[in-house]
Amino acid sequence: MPDYIKFVESIKQKTGIDLAAYKEAQMKRRLTSLYEKKGYKNFVEFFNALDHDRDLLNEFLDRMTINVSEFYRNGKRWEVLQNKIFPKLLAENKRLKIWSAACSTGEEPYTTAMVLSNYLPLSQISVHATDLDENAIHRAKVGIYPERSLAEVPNEIKFKYFEKQGQFYKVEDAIKKTANFKKHNLLKDTYDKNYDLIICRNVMIYFTEEAKDQIYQNFSNSLRSGGILFVGSTEQIFNPGKFGFEIEDTFFYRKK
Ligand SMILES: C[S@@+](CC[C@H](N)C(=O)[O-])C[C@H]1O[C@@H](n2cnc3c(N)ncnc32)[C@H](O)[C@@H]1O
Repeated sequence: MPDYIKFVESIKQKTGIDLAAYKEAQMKRRLTSLYEKKGYKNFVEFFNALDHDRDLLNEFLDRMTINVSEFYRNGKRWEVLQNKIFPKLLAENKRLKIWSAACSTGEEPYTTAMVLSNYLPLSQISVHATDLDENAIHRAKVGIYPERSLAEVPNEIKFKYFEKQGQFYKVEDAIKKTANFKKHNLLKDTYDKNYDLIICRNVMIYFTEEAKDQIYQNFSNSLRSGGILFVGSTEQIFNPGKFGFEIEDTFFYRKK
């Protein structure tokens, strides 16, 4: 059996993570550069080592998950969310059920709360925020970010919701309280139902076509009729109708 396939099977057994659902060439390249750096010769040696070394297992998880994120990432899309999508959703429902899926270190759910705070008091905002990576979730809960994570944050929001601490910025507690963080694997765990809005950005690019199709179908099943899926700025769905979606705006899909 080829080296990588065996590695994929062993990792699934050990962690429940199915690397076969991620684009193979990309994942292999990332993991090969890690094991070479660590002095291993192939995937078999690498697995044997991480099977007994918690720190190495964490490094592997870090390398495979890619936690890059930013507040107000692709700012124009957040303007559409603020000026078009939220007013429509709020006209249909006063309390919104929102999920930020693959939220990484928290910038996305916190941005969601900041944008929605234009319409609702923070005490009425709740964002379910999930990621596969427990380290990322831990950092999200701490809520301290380097300046580069805030590059797209409007100035008035920066003053209102962040506190400068030396080189870093800390998110206000009132914003932190709006997010409920939980570990969730999009490929394996069950999806909650009846969402008004699901935000899932910049993770689908890593998955195979089959995995993507399954996840889009799951999102569709999880949205109420009229609910919105907000995707990343390189992640248009080529056949939205297949999943019961129609285009609401660029990178926004409405469940029929
Ligand atoms: C590049 S970040 C995207 C963060 C944020 N959504 C954004 O657009 O800025 C990708 C995130 O997807 C998460 N991820 C990867 N595979 C996942 C899976 N199977 N289930 C849930 N999250 C996953 C990673 O841990 C990582 O935090």
